[in-house]
Amino acid sequence: MGKTSVTLGLASAALAAGIPTLVVDLDPHADATTGLAVNPGDKPGIGEMLKGARRAVLTDNVVSSGWTENHLRRRKGDPKRPPVLDVAMGSAFTGIYDRPDLGRRDLRRLSTLLSRVSGYGLVLIDCPPSLNGLTRMAWMASNRVLLVAEPGLFSVAGTERTMRALDLFREEFAPNLAPAGIVANRVRTSSNEHSFRLAEMQQMFGDLLLQPHIAEQANWQQIQGAAHAVHHWPGESAKQAAGSFDALLKNLVESGRSRNRVMRRPVA
Ligand SMILES: Nc1ncnc2c1ncn2[C@@H]1O[C@H](COP(=O)(O)OP(=O)(O)O)[C@@H](O)[C@H]1O
Ligand SMILES: [Mg+2]
Repeated sequence: MGKTSVTLGLASAALAAGIPTLVVDLDPHADATTGLAVNPGDKPGIGEMLKGARRAVLTDNVVSSGWTENHLRRRKGDPKRPPVLDVAMGSAFTGIYDRPDLGRRDLRRLSTLLSRVSGYGLVLIDCPPSLNGLTRMAWMASNRVLLVAEPGLFSVAGTERTMRALDLFREEFAPNLAPAGIVANRVRTSSNEHSFRLAEMQQMFGDLLLQPHIAEQANWQQIQGAAHAVHHWPGESAKQAAGSFDALLKNLVESGRSRNRVMRRPVA
């Protein structure tokens, strides 16, 4: 758990770093869309765009995140380059594709839409919890896959299953797709159980377990409920969380640049 939270944290870090970013919200619950403070107007959701993928123009669905206004108000970044944080808005309609038996043609729908989009340095796709059609569509359209795991028994086991599913998917559909790694989220350093699970994850996944871990954040719900970027939230704990996402994004960007190195495959 924590996919949407990590997506929003990375989007916030990308905005702060001046990386033009698009967040694609593939979850029918559209939590990322809500968290990114968008004004949908009468624009269609991403589900409708996927349905008409061959002819649809993604910009019909994309809106700017409300976070950018706050960013500008703080006079951050280069005034000549307005911040870009866009959202391909989620919608319940997307659910029609969340089937386990989606064929190759349907799996390509998001890739087709994104192939006609340009100008972004980073595209983050927030997935629903299931490993069905929508998540696979996202894998098909991606260079790299980031997994999020809480340091608990079920979550660690689930991450291993996801890694295996990803491996099979790569063999069948996407040989160039690579795991970006695993983020440990909601970590409590004072918890013995968490230390034990983190050591276990380190042993299981090696270099794929990314640094830094993301700490359990007491006011997370409040920040997300207010649809704010963590970088814009006052207080020391938000500042620390923002710093963690800055470091995580930096690590991801750097490992992306040296992507030719051999990735350690998870233990099967
Ligand atoms: N680091 C964190 N600290 C505190 N609460 C968190 C943290 N990460 C996620 N949460 C909370 O856990 C819940 C599930 O997280 P979410 O990001 O929506 O998961 P997912 O998208 O995988 O379903 C949300 O209520 C969120 O606010
Ligand atoms: Mg989510």
